[in-house]
Amino acid sequence: MPDRFDFLVLGSGAAGLSFALAVADHGTVAVVTKKESAESNTNYAQGGIAAVMDSADSIENHVQDTLVAGAGLCDEEVVRAIVSEGPLRIEELRRRGASFSEDAGRLHLGREGGHSAHRIVHAADATGREVEHTLLEQVKTHPNIRVYEYHFALELITEHHLGLHVTRVRPDIRCYGAYVLDERSDRVLRILARVTMLATGGAGRIYLHTTNPAIATGDGVAMAYRAKARIANMEFVQFHPTSLFHPDGDSFLISEAVRGHGAILLNKAGERFMPSYDDRCELAPRDIVARAIDDQLKSRGDDYVLLDISHRPKAEIEEHFPNIRAKCSSLGIDISSEPIPVVPAAHYMCGGVVTGLDARTSIRGLLACGEVTYTGLHGANRLASNSLLEALVLGRRAVTSAVEDARDSGFQADVPEWDDSGTSNPTEWVLVSHNRDELRRVMWDYVGIVRSMHRLSRAQRRTRLLYEETEEFYRKSRVSAELCELRNMIVVSYLVIRSAEMRRESRGLHFMSDYPHPVEAERRPTFI
Ligand code: FAD
Ligand code: SIN
Repeated sequence: MPDRFDFLVLGSGAAGLSFALAVADHGTVAVVTKKESAESNTNYAQGGIAAVMDSADSIENHVQDTLVAGAGLCDEEVVRAIVSEGPLRIEELRRRGASFSEDAGRLHLGREGGHSAHRIVHAADATGREVEHTLLEQVKTHPNIRVYEYHFALELITEHHLGLHVTRVRPDIRCYGAYVLDERSDRVLRILARVTMLATGGAGRIYLHTTNPAIATGDGVAMAYRAKARIANMEFVQFHPTSLFHPDGDSFLISEAVRGHGAILLNKAGERFMPSYDDRCELAPRDIVARAIDDQLKSRGDDYVLLDISHRPKAEIEEHFPNIRAKCSSLGIDISSEPIPVVPAAHYMCGGVVTGLDARTSIRGLLACGEVTYTGLHGANRLASNSLLEALVLGRRAVTSAVEDARDSGFQADVPEWDDSGTSNPTEWVLVSHNRDELRRVMWDYVGIVRSMHRLSRAQRRTRLLYEETEEFYRKSRVSAELCELRNMIVVSYLVIRSAEMRRESRGLHFMSDYPHPVEAERRPTFI
């Protein structure tokens, strides 16, 4: 692999790929990704992409729905800009070859919680796969782009690696590229870039139960935090209400589109419970539905609730939810004749690395887009299907900043090679798997859907111990992806806990039993 590129992109989901494709007209691009290139949260997205594509709908309606879901914490200018560009990005994807579900020659628009109109552009129930593969196909054949699979970004290169001791956020820090572990040869590469794009996605794996695939370990937020970038709103973790509950099933989402299509939620006694929690019933925003399910589970002592779509015609279920039907069927559940057992699971990080609408972070030469960021779009709760939208819009917008910033910066010559002196191959690898499992359980038990100061301080103490043990192990060990993921997950967990402790109110996704109401004086982002 060459050691320098004009643009270095970390991550190959919707955000990284759409940026790579658009910036490739302006220079050489390396896309570095830690697993097989399609493996990303994007690839598993089901419901779709929220965009105003029908004359009966309006940008203003989409803006208002986003603001309502965000519970007073969205940045309205950001919301307006991103929502307005949605239709353009959908048309661009279609021009690139993406095929979305249609009805009588027009886009079929789905409906999801919190949306006042049918506006979810989708490819049946596997929208992410369609987006990911459309973008990847073009990226892989573009003459200016090289994709490096099984390459794990370890650290962003900044002044810190040039010998300057940086202890806090400063305006003069610059990013010069990244240290990347080639997982096949076990060598650490030093990749220099004029501009680095962080598009490493979310961190659902810090929780025991999650809809996210194994790649979602928060590496980007952790690297940016260590590089002293500004981070915000990490307490706002979105729990999806309906993840499949089955002893033999790994995390699998049952899309909100199923409720959008008329499915109802029942407790184990067969009673429909959502009408007693919210007038919008099953289509209330996710935080409300997830908390209602949590309440049912805790008050009744049950381990799941039921999602029932069996009253809809079988052919319709098959047409709209082929993927979900097949998965359930493989586990012996026929969704056209029986309800699906579901539980809430960690799904999406609303907080992350702070960027503007130009994708610039607080570190010069470092841009970010997609789930790794905090832009102000989601506020205290993300509206369904607004995240692919954000990834596509910011990935495109970032190009102007990238081209401008690349013009002003050369390659930093005196960046040292990765220093692994004093490390060896340790024998106690059990520490990594044990600490990882323990962390995920601590986060699930104490930093979940309903929080309290008592639970948070317990989580803080446990996490500190895991941090100290893991750091000591890291200092002595040859670097590996598993160990680095654990370190990153601990950092991200710390940021979630710390931000949650700082917010003394309940708002959107952050519910604190000691402070059960919103407090006007707390209505601002949490910056770290
Ligand atoms: P990702 O798609 O997660 O891509 C991140 C990339 O970074 C991956 O390629 C990963 O391997 C790579 N990476 C991570 N760390 C490193 C590292 N250290 N080194 C190198 N590479 C690294 N949103 C919607 O809007 N609509 C939906 O219908 C929807 N459904 C969803 C369903 C599921 C099951 C899940 C999990 C999420 C869903 N979401 C949905 C959320 C949405 O999919 C994500 O927010 C979005 O895809 C994020 O895109 P991204 O490009 O930022 O990150
Ligand atoms: C879903 O299909 O329910 C997921 C949609 C989203 O997370 O935006």
